[in-house]
Parts: sequence; structure tokens; C-alpha cells
Amino acid sequence: MSAVPTAMQSGTPIDYGSFKDSCAPLIGVLYDGDVKSVLDAVREHDNYTFSHSFKVATLLTMFGSAIGLSEADQVLLACGGLLHDVGKMSIPFELLNKPDKLSPEEWAVMKSHVPTTMDFLNICDGIPKGAQIIAAQHHEKLDGTGYPNGLKGLAINELARMAAIVDIYGALTDRRSYKPEMAPETAFDLMSESMSDQLDTGLLKVFRHIVLDQTR
Ligand SMILES: [Fe+2]
Ligand SMILES: [Fe+2]
Repeated sequence: MSAVPTAMQSGTPIDYGSFKDSCAPLIGVLYDGDVKSVLDAVREHDNYTFSHSFKVATLLTMFGSAIGLSEADQVLLACGGLLHDVGKMSIPFELLNKPDKLSPEEWAVMKSHVPTTMDFLNICDGIPKGAQIIAAQHHEKLDGTGYPNGLKGLAINELARMAAIVDIYGALTDRRSYKPEMAPETAFDLMSESMSDQLDTGLLKVFRHIVLDQTR
């Protein structure tokens, strides 16, 4: 089912069997009342963060399913994808949707969504550790230029390396107040040309195939 959004854009039919299988972990997580109530609060604050979280969770779960990860890991991907940006509830709506370039001070506020997410998930009952790691590390980069901890290479968890790729792909292919949406191929070209030191290029290649194969 991978690229549901891109498949929909191109009018390509999707294979319902694989769609249903790879959606199962996501649907399971959504039945969790605690996750749903957190997501309702996210939607209340900023509808874009809500839809972005769904897109990331859907693509991440599909990614995990396509590369043969265990169902337990797929559940972590679904849960981590849905919750990775909940700390954005603490960022003013105007800043999240600002059409202009952010000042250094505004960037610092924006980056604070990661520790805020971690503080929040820490006090929630039953959020799996693996989902918390995805949220904690989704802005880390292999070359150490990411945040909040500047982790390098294999210090970044594999599921979080997948999340970093899907998070950027999701953002590039969405239209925002400050930019138009990018076509999937263009987004992948940009990521593999200018972010090859930052992203896991092996995983990026695999994800590219999964997404683009659905649209051909
Ligand atoms: Fe984020
Ligand atoms: Fe995100």
C-alpha cells in the first residue's frame, strides 16, 4: 500500500491485500484510547501536524512491512510515527505555520518540540520504548548535524533512521504556507543528492523504490 498519497495523486490502483496487511499495525495502534486522545489534542492545536503525523505513520508502517520487519517493529513504527511530533502542541500555531523564514530564536523554539515530546511521552502510560526512541531521534542526522543530541551514525536507532527519511519526504511532498509541494521523484532526487551524509542512503534507496513503484 506504500505510497497511498502518491498513488492517489496519480490515480494508480493499489493492491488491497498488501494495503490491508501493512495497515493492520497502524489500525491496532489507533484503537489504543490513549494514543487517540493525544492525537485529538494534536488536531485541535494544528491540523497540519495531525495530518503529517498520519502520513508519516502510514508511510513508515508500509516501509517496515515492505522490508520484512517483524509485526512488533511495525507497531513501533506506527506508534512512533503517530506520536513523533506531539510536542508541537507546545509551539504557537502562528510559528508552526509561519510563511517566512524563521529567525534563530524561532528555530530554537521549533526544535524544542523534540524534548517536549519526550517529556510528554515519558509521563504517558504504556508508550513502547521503541516508539519513544523514534520520537527522540527523528531529527538526528548520521553526520552529527541533527538535533537534539547530535548523535552520529549507528548511535541512531535503525527505526529512527527510517523515520528521519519518511519525515523529510513527507514534509517535502506537502504544500505549506511557505512552500509548494514537491513531486515524489524530485523529493527523492533532492534527498539523495544533498542529504547523503545525513540520511541512511541504503534505507533511502529502498524507500524510494517502495514509494515510486506504487505510482508506475
Ligand atoms: Fe519533528
Ligand atoms: Fe515530523
